[in-house]
Amino acid sequence: MKTPVTELSEEMAADEMQRLSIIIKEANKNYHTKDAPTMSDAQYDELKQRNNSLEKNFPDLKLPTSPSNEIGGPLMGGFSKIEHSVKMLSLGNAFDKNDVIDFDERVRKFLKLSPDDDLEFTAEPKIDGLSLSLMYRSGRLVYAATRGDGEMGENVTENARVINSIPEVLIGAPEILEVRGEVFMSHQDFSELNRVNITKELKTFSNPRNAAAGSLRQLDHNITKERPLEFMAYAWGELSSPIGDTYFDTVKFLERLGFSVSPLMVKCDNVNMLLEHYYEIEQARVTLGYDIDGVVYKVNSLGYQKRLGFRSTTPRWAIAHKFPAELAWTKLEAIEVQVGRTGALSPVARLQPVTVGGVVVSNATLHNEDYILGQDSKGNILRNGVDIRVGDLVQVYRAGDVIPKISNVDLTKRTFRSVPYVFPLTCPSCGSSAIRDEGDAVRRCIGTTKCPAQKIEKLKHFVSRSAFDIDGLGAKQVEAFFYDNVLPIKELRDIFTLEERDQQSVSKLKNRDRWGEKSTEKLFNSINNKRNINLQKFIFSLGMRHIGEQVSGLLAKHYKSWDNFFVSVVAASNYNDVAFENLNAIDGIGGIMVKSLIDTFGNSTHSLNIQELAAELIIKDAEVTTNKNSKIGGKLIVFTGALETMSRAEAKSKAEEMGAKVSSAISKKTDILVAGLGGGSKNLKAISLGIEVIDEKAWVMLISME
Ligand code: IVH
Repeated sequence: MKTPVTELSEEMAADEMQRLSIIIKEANKNYHTKDAPTMSDAQYDELKQRNNSLEKNFPDLKLPTSPSNEIGGPLMGGFSKIEHSVKMLSLGNAFDKNDVIDFDERVRKFLKLSPDDDLEFTAEPKIDGLSLSLMYRSGRLVYAATRGDGEMGENVTENARVINSIPEVLIGAPEILEVRGEVFMSHQDFSELNRVNITKELKTFSNPRNAAAGSLRQLDHNITKERPLEFMAYAWGELSSPIGDTYFDTVKFLERLGFSVSPLMVKCDNVNMLLEHYYEIEQARVTLGYDIDGVVYKVNSLGYQKRLGFRSTTPRWAIAHKFPAELAWTKLEAIEVQVGRTGALSPVARLQPVTVGGVVVSNATLHNEDYILGQDSKGNILRNGVDIRVGDLVQVYRAGDVIPKISNVDLTKRTFRSVPYVFPLTCPSCGSSAIRDEGDAVRRCIGTTKCPAQKIEKLKHFVSRSAFDIDGLGAKQVEAFFYDNVLPIKELRDIFTLEERDQQSVSKLKNRDRWGEKSTEKLFNSINNKRNINLQKFIFSLGMRHIGEQVSGLLAKHYKSWDNFFVSVVAASNYNDVAFENLNAIDGIGGIMVKSLIDTFGNSTHSLNIQELAAELIIKDAEVTTNKNSKIGGKLIVFTGALETMSRAEAKSKAEEMGAKVSSAISKKTDILVAGLGGGSKNLKAISLGIEVIDEKAWVMLISME
C-alpha cells in the first residue's frame, strides 16, 4: 500500500516524482515510439494519477520535464512541452539610420542620460536560424527547448545533445545557467543536404533556416545527428549568480565555458560606431558561410539593461538593424481574395514562382483594394498611382521572414489586353455583402455567424500555437473537420464535444483512412489536456478584432474571473449600463476594443456559442500579481512634476513591475502621489483628498526595498 500523498515529506515527494518521471517516460517511449507497451493501461493510468496528485500537492517540486507536460508520447503528437522559466523574447526592428538614432535617444531618455553621457553598446550579427534555450544544472545539460510561443517551447533535448557545438558538460559554470542562442546550418552543409536528399528522392529545403528548423525538430535524434547543425550563444535566461557586469564580458565568459560566440561582436560608444560596424558586417556577409539578416545592437551595461526592462514581447535594451530587403521581378498570375477570421477581405497575389534572396516566393500580399489601385488608405499616391493588374510584371519585395509584398509594376511590359482589377463587393466565401466602413482600409464580410471562411479562420486561430495550441489539431485538421459530415467542427465548442460525439456515432473516427486507435486516442487526449485554460488565453483565443494578447491580459486582470468578465461585457452592450462605463475606464482599453467586445458579446448567437464553449472548460481566474514584499503591490500611484534620477517611463515601468498600477489623474482611488519638481495642482488636489504625497527621495527608497 502506498503512503498517501498528503503524508509525504517534500524530500520523499521529490524522490518519487523523479522516479515516476523516468518510469512514465520509458513507458511512453515503449508505447508510442517502439510500439511495444511494457505495462497494462491500468498500471500506466495509476502511475500518471499518482504523479498528478504529487504535483498538485507539491506544485513547487514539479519537474520542468514532468511527464504531465508531455502530451502523449513523442511519436505522432511531436515533442513534449517545456515552460521557459524566463520568457524567450524577440527583438524590435530598425530599418535605417534614423531608427538607430531613435533607439539611442529612447534608451537615453528612459535612463535620463544626456546626449553627452557615456552609453556603451555592443553590435553583432543577427543569425538567421532558430533560437534554442539550453538549461544547465550543476554544469550538466538537463534540457533544451525551442522558443515556441515564448512561454512554452518544445523539448528537443535529445536532438540538442547530438549538436557538436553544444557542450554536454560545463566546467566553472554557475549552479543554474540557461544559455540561449541560435541553431543554424552553413551554406555548404545546406547544399550538401539538399544534394543528398535529391538523390534519395527526399524532400529538399528552400533555405538553410528551414533546413535547420526541420533538422532540429526531428522526432528521431539519429536523423538530427546526420544533419550538421551549429549553435552560437548570444543570450541567457535563468542564472543562479551573475557572471559579469556587461553583456560583452558575459558572452566572453560563455565562450570560455566552451560555447561558440560571434567573432564579429564589438563594443561601440555611439550611433556612428554602430552604423560603421553595421556596414562592415554587411560587407562580410557573403564570406561568412551562413545566413545573417541584420545586426543586433544591445546596451552593454547589465545594470542599464535591468533598468530598461521589457515591453510586452521585446527588450528596451536591444534592437535588430535589418539588412535591406531583397527584390525580384515576376509575373502576377492571379489575384485571389481571402477572408480572415474577422471578415476582412485580403487580396493575395499568386505569382509565377521566383527566387528572392534564396527563397522561392509564389504568393505575396496586396494589402487591400486601395493598394491595388495605387494609393494608401489615406488617399496618398503610391507607385506614382500605377494600379496592379493580373498579367503584370511585378516587383516582389521580401524582408526577413515578413510576408513578401508587391512593390512595383513594370508598365512597359503591360499588354493592351490588360484590364483593371475589380475588387469584389461580396464575400467570396458566403456571398454576403462586403462593406467598407468609413475610415477603414479594409472591406469586410458582414455574414459573421454564417460565413464558412470566417468560421474556419476563427477555428484556426483558436487552435494555433499562441492560443489553445492543441497538438494534432492544426489548421489543416480543423478545416477538414469543418467539412466533415459525421463529426463536424463548426463552432469552437464542437472541438470539446468531439470525443463524446464520436462515442455516440456508429462510424468511428478510429476506423477511418489515416486514423487509428492510437492517433484517435491521442487527439482526444490532447484536446482534453487543454480544457484547463487561463482567462487571458481564453479571451485571446476567441479571436475578436483588436483583442490581442496584451489587451486580453488587461481585461483578464481587470475582471479576474470568466463569470465576472462575461456578465460585465454582456451588460456593457447596453450603453446606459454602468458596466459600459467601467469597461471604457480600463486603462489601455480604447473605443475600438470596446466596440469589438460589444459586437461579439452583444450578439446573442455569438455570446451563446461562447457560453457553450466555456461550459466545456475550466477557466482559471487571473492571478493578481501583487508582490508581497513590495510596499506598493496593488496600490494606485500617480506621478507629477519632473523626477531627477529617472525618467517618467522608468518610474512607471518600475511601479508596474512591483505590482502597482499607474494612472495619470488623481482621484479618490489614488493611494500615493509621487511629487517631483513643480507638480503644483496635483499636489493640492492630493492633499485635499487626504492622499499620501511623497517626494522623489522617498520614492527611490520605496522601490529599493524590493
Ligand atoms: S538577442 C531578448 N542576438 O533573432 C532577446 N537574437 O528577432 C534576445 N537572433 O529570437 C535575442 N541573432 O532567435 C539576439 N545576436 C543575436 C541574434 C538573435 C539571431 C534571433 C533570435 C531572436 C530573434 C529576434
